[in-house]
This record gives sequence, structure tokens and C-alpha cells, in this order.
Amino acid sequence: MVDLSFAIDPVYIATIFIFIIGLQRMSHPLTARSGIVWAGAAMLIATLVTFLTPDLTNFALIAIAIVIGGGLGYIAAKRVAMTDMPQMVAIYNGMGGGAAAGIAAVHLLGTTTAATSTLAVVGGLIGAVSFSGSLIAFLKLQGWMRPRPITFPGQQVINMAVLALAVVSGILILWQPSFIPLSVATYLPLFFVLSLGFGFLMTLPIGGADMPVVISMYNAFTGLAVALDGFSFATPNYAMVVAGVIVGAAGSLLTLLMARAMNRSIPNILFGAFGATEETGTEIQGSLKPIEADDVAVLLAYANTAIIVPGYGMAVAQAQQRVKELADLLESKNVEVKFAIHPVAGRMPGHMNVLLAEAGISYDHLFDRDEINPEFPDTDVVLVIGANDVVNPAAHRQGSPLYGMPILDVELAKNVIVLKRGEGKGFAGIENDLFYRDNTRMLYGDAKESVGKIVQALKKL
Ligand code: TAP
Repeated sequence: MVDLSFAIDPVYIATIFIFIIGLQRMSHPLTARSGIVWAGAAMLIATLVTFLTPDLTNFALIAIAIVIGGGLGYIAAKRVAMTDMPQMVAIYNGMGGGAAAGIAAVHLLGTTTAATSTLAVVGGLIGAVSFSGSLIAFLKLQGWMRPRPITFPGQQVINMAVLALAVVSGILILWQPSFIPLSVATYLPLFFVLSLGFGFLMTLPIGGADMPVVISMYNAFTGLAVALDGFSFATPNYAMVVAGVIVGAAGSLLTLLMARAMNRSIPNILFGAFGATEETGTEIQGSLKPIEADDVAVLLAYANTAIIVPGYGMAVAQAQQRVKELADLLESKNVEVKFAIHPVAGRMPGHMNVLLAEAGISYDHLFDRDEINPEFPDTDVVLVIGANDVVNPAAHRQGSPLYGMPILDVELAKNVIVLKRGEGKGFAGIENDLFYRDNTRMLYGDAKESVGKIVQALKKL
């Protein structure tokens, strides 16, 4: 057969540029969809050109794996609800970590140099931690496991001991001391069991609103593991190195940005067991005061300014089109309408931006927390549509599990209308005293139906 392997590296380099174009396009919601297509095309090209590797065997097995993996991925991606996206990201990311750990294992069982095996051990450790950690994150988010932090006495000590043992077994793989008559084949399973165990244990005490940050951190881990694996080949695999570094860097930045958005440090997220303790000693004052859609319409019609705060419930109800209709109608009645976007509203970064863009709401109507917070005291009506944690004033109260998370200060507005179905708590599972305040009224029902009723009532005014 003709040897075309000379084409591999140039094509890999070309795919790297396509990855970067894809990533650049993903940084804006309007171009994000095409960014995914660019990056997907790059991955396809890189996969296909890898088949030109000389002496490649097991074609049939590789093809079967690609068909099964690709098929399952396609079906899952088609079926997943937007609100279940975080757990899908978690499981896919875990698969990446697992694959990186698998590649490292194959390297360590084959012929390697000291340098490449060291890289494979480090990559294997990080990949395995990412795999088992992401799996726990998936189970928690999917509701197949208790989502709140799972803690027990001596937890951090045990975790550190397991990590130390994993590192020691990794060192034994590399060193293979002559005074211990064991081979790599013995150390390797031990190394992976301990590494997987550490990822598992490390994720148990993390829960509540910290979950998205952790998923993003594991995403960075997977990238790093893939990059290290890329170096551990006899001839480095540039596509793996660069794609891994891009994922590692993007994941790290996203982790830091989300942690900052929640005013939490990474060590605090990893070791702080967010939400493990219930809030104690705070009695909520006041009562829940219901309101009808007709009255909300009157309030809005006579307002000068209105701010809409979308949250997870708007996504569940798929109310974004009706919200756009409401905003247009209010603007036609000379009400100034703005949207306040909290960085962790919904269930994934940019969730609200994507939904609102889908409904055709222009970006100049969207304001982030720092921009909009000073405006709440002068705002006539705030409509909180299916948001809860991101508007919970408990975040200002020392002793609350939410303490320190920057929120949208909607409680300062003249009137606050909260659209939700009942007395459900937010993702963090904490009571929200905003709902009991004197200036708050509750419009109960599915957000899509409630917004529809307000629109109908407004049209009649
Ligand atoms: P949440 O705090 O999750 O509250 C959503 C509220 O929507 C609930 O209180 C629920 O109350 C209501 N709701 C649910 N379905 C509804 C429907 N069909 N119609 C009307 N209301 C409905 O939402 P949030 O304020 O957007 O906060 C997001 C939370 O998720 C934060 O804690 C965040 O840290 C976490 N999180 C975020 C991400 C990212 S990156 N965005 C990822 C994972 C987790 P009822 O049951 O009473 O209706």
C-alpha cells in the first residue's frame, strides 16, 4: 500500500488551526453553532488522517468502536434536553479522561523511554481522576445519586492518603526497584484503581451549586491528560498535544471564571463541602403573597422601567418566546425593558444567553450582574422568571451556605414579581426569603403559561 504517512503531521497542524477558529467562534453566542461545526470537522479530519499511520492494525476493532461510540453520542446528543446538558458534558468529559487513561496504560505496557513513561503515568493519573470524578458528577446531576455533598469523618485525610498511594504506585511503575519482584503488569492495575478511587472520593463532598465548576475543572484535567498522552508517543502526536492544551486552557479559564462568579476559591470548592450544612438559626419573616396575571399586567403597563431576570425555570418551561413577546409588548407601551443575566443562571454557562438569543432578543438588552445591580433600586418592576438561587438574598447573610455568592439584588426594586410553579427550592436547596418580602408578589404556575397570561392581559389594556 502507498505510504502516505508524510501527510499526517501537516494535516494535524492544519486541524489545529481549524480547532482554534472553532474555539474563537464559540466565544460568541451568534457564531457558537458554527464554531462547533468547525471544531467537529477538525476532529473528523484528525481522526481520518490517523488511519494513515504506518503499521496500524486492528482496523475492524477501531471501526466498530467508532461506530458504537459515534452512534451512541449522536443519539444521546439528539435526545438530551437542554436542561440536562451539564450531566451530558460531565459524562462525555469523563469518557475523554477514561480514553486518556487507557492510552497511558497501553503506553506503559509497551516499549517506552523514561521520559515517555513519566508523561504516561502523569497523564494516566489525571485522566483516571477525571474519569471517575466526572462519573460521580454525572450521577449526582442526573439524580441517580444523592446530589448534596457526602461527607464523613477524616475524609480529607483518607483522600490525601489514596492520592499519595496512587502517586507511589505510579513511581513504582517507573522505577521498578529490583528488591521488589513485581512487574508493571502488577503495579498498573493498582495505580489505576487508586487513581480512580481518588477521583471518586474527591467528588463525593462536592455538591450544590459547585457542581458546574467541578465539571469544568475535570474538563481541564482531561485536556491536560490528553496533551501529556500526545507527548508520550515515540513521535509526539501534535493533534493530541494541541487539542489537549486548548481544552486544558479553556477548561481552566472557565473554572476560574465560574468560581469567581460565585465568589468561591477553587480550594474552597474542592474541600469546603458546599451545601453540606443546612442553614440554621434564621427564621424567615413575612408571608408568601400571591398575585394574578391581570394585576401583574396593570403593574407593568404603568411602569417606566422593568427588568426581567430569567433562570432555570424559564428553560424548563421553554418560555423564552413568550418572554420576547412580553418584552416587545412592553416596549411598545414605552416601558424600558432590560434583561439581567447572572453568570450561573440555568444549568450551564451562557444558558440564558443562548435561550434568549434563540428567541431573537437582541444582545443590547442583556446586562450582566455588575452592570445591572446598581439599577434595581430605581426599577419599577422586576419579573423573576424561574430564577431562585441567583436572586437569593441569603447570599448576603453570614452562616448561609450561599454566603458570598454574588447575586442579582432584585430585592431592592420597587416591585418584585416571581414566576414559579410552587414552593420548590432552587438548585442549592436553600429557602429564599425574597419571596416573603413586602415588595414581592408570587405569580404561581408554569412560566410559559404565566407569561402568556400576562401578555394576553396586557393586550386587553
Ligand atoms: P434555580 O435556583 O435552580 O431555581 C429554579 C426555580 O425555577 C425553582 O425554584 C423552581 O421553583 C422554578 N421552576 C422550575 N420549573 C419551572 C417552570 N416550569 N415554570 C416556572 N418556574 C419553574 O435556578 P437559578 O436561579 O437559575 O440558579 C441556577 C442554579 O443552578 C445555581 O445554584 C447554579 O449554581 C446552579 N447551576 C448552574 C449551572 C450553570 S453553569 N449555569 C450549572 C449547574 C448548576 P418551582 O419548583 O416552585 O417551580
